[in-house]
Amino acid sequence: MTGNKPALGVFGAGWVGLVTAACFADLGHGVVVRDVVPAKIEELNTGRVPFHEPGLAELIDGNRERLTFTLSVDELKADASIFFSCVDTPPTPSGEANLSAVLSVVHDLGSPEDTILVMKSTVPVGTGARIRDQLSERVGYVSNPEFLSEGRALEDFMRPDRIVIGSFDERHGDRVAALYEGFDAPVVRTSVPSAEMIKLAANGFLATRISFINEIANVSEAVGADVDEVVEGMGLDKRIGTSYLRPGVGYGGSCFPKDVSFLKLLAGNSGYHFQLLSAVMEVNDLQKRRVINKLKEHLGDLRGKTVALLGLAFKPDTDDMRDAPSIVLASRLQAEGAEVRAWDRLVRGHPELNGVVIEPTILDAIRDADAAVILTEWPELEGLASAESRQAMRTPLIIDGRNLLDPQAVRAVGFVYEGIGRA
Ligand code: UDX
Repeated sequence: MTGNKPALGVFGAGWVGLVTAACFADLGHGVVVRDVVPAKIEELNTGRVPFHEPGLAELIDGNRERLTFTLSVDELKADASIFFSCVDTPPTPSGEANLSAVLSVVHDLGSPEDTILVMKSTVPVGTGARIRDQLSERVGYVSNPEFLSEGRALEDFMRPDRIVIGSFDERHGDRVAALYEGFDAPVVRTSVPSAEMIKLAANGFLATRISFINEIANVSEAVGADVDEVVEGMGLDKRIGTSYLRPGVGYGGSCFPKDVSFLKLLAGNSGYHFQLLSAVMEVNDLQKRRVINKLKEHLGDLRGKTVALLGLAFKPDTDDMRDAPSIVLASRLQAEGAEVRAWDRLVRGHPELNGVVIEPTILDAIRDADAAVILTEWPELEGLASAESRQAMRTPLIIDGRNLLDPQAVRAVGFVYEGIGRA
């Protein structure tokens, strides 16, 4: 205990685990984080955070006296009474959740008296019931999904829209709810399966909005409407709003692609064909490839052409390349015979970007290029359409995969410009 705050244990020093640990430490809890990868623990103990998340390194640094990073399960279990599972559940080749890390957590935790295992890892509905059957009666089980988005995870943790707590036994749910006392957010108390479903349904729905607006953008292009105007007009309807209606090259990242697939397969395995999600996934795949068609319309055959990809991460403020649209695009362009160069503020390389030359500046990336394709809305790219860039490029063509630039201003400098769904 630190003061009257229960000590916490966190399994997994990944992105969710470290954000959870740092935030609870900042709230005054003693937190021990355990990971199985020695290099990660060493790095954390020398004061470095193994990935980019704004503010996280500083928050960990400011709470060092309440944070311990260890490889040892015994050290993790020494004082803590509430344990968070924050290990990852990557997709298997069939698109289902690989639960082996979660099951190792259950095994490593064992059965310490009067403790609770809190599931933050995203798991298929029914996992909690399966784990409860494996746990001793001395360990309670609570589902407390995270809704953190990369690049703003600390803000999302400290000021959430809601806190979801699913429990089999209300007393266990009460103990976890108490950790969030003082948060200005509604606490939604549910059964464990409902909490598990809330996480998958929320991400499935947000992904559906993105695929929906991408299709509206594609049709708008064909019929002469402008998707920005359409979103403004739709979004003022209070029932709709404008969030998650930004058209682009499709969603990526560690959650949406995986969670949509989990939900679809979960439904399928339970005998229900979730038709809508099949379309959401297909639209998202095709959206990445539409950029290739736009390039061909302007440049003809792409063999021997040079294309600069501006932004590689799946969104700004992260160096995460999981399911980034840039990976699919780079490999499609290379298959068409194009030379691919790139710039990103944080990403310096990735095994799946074989043969892509990553340049240190935007200007280096677009020099002598036949097209510049914006894939991540990094603020640096807002100044792309300058006279200097125009002169540097062999063909002044900008394909704006995030609708970041003002079309009129870009064309005024002499560029040929195409966004997504813009008139
Ligand atoms: C998401 C959820 O927001 C979060 O609640 C959940 O816990 C994990 O998944 P994250 O993956 O960090 O978080 O990113 P998010 O900002 O939601 O964006 C996901 C993808 O959708 C990005 O590739 C983004 O570019 C794309 N997107 C988002 C759009 O194409 N259009 C939009 O309108 C919004």
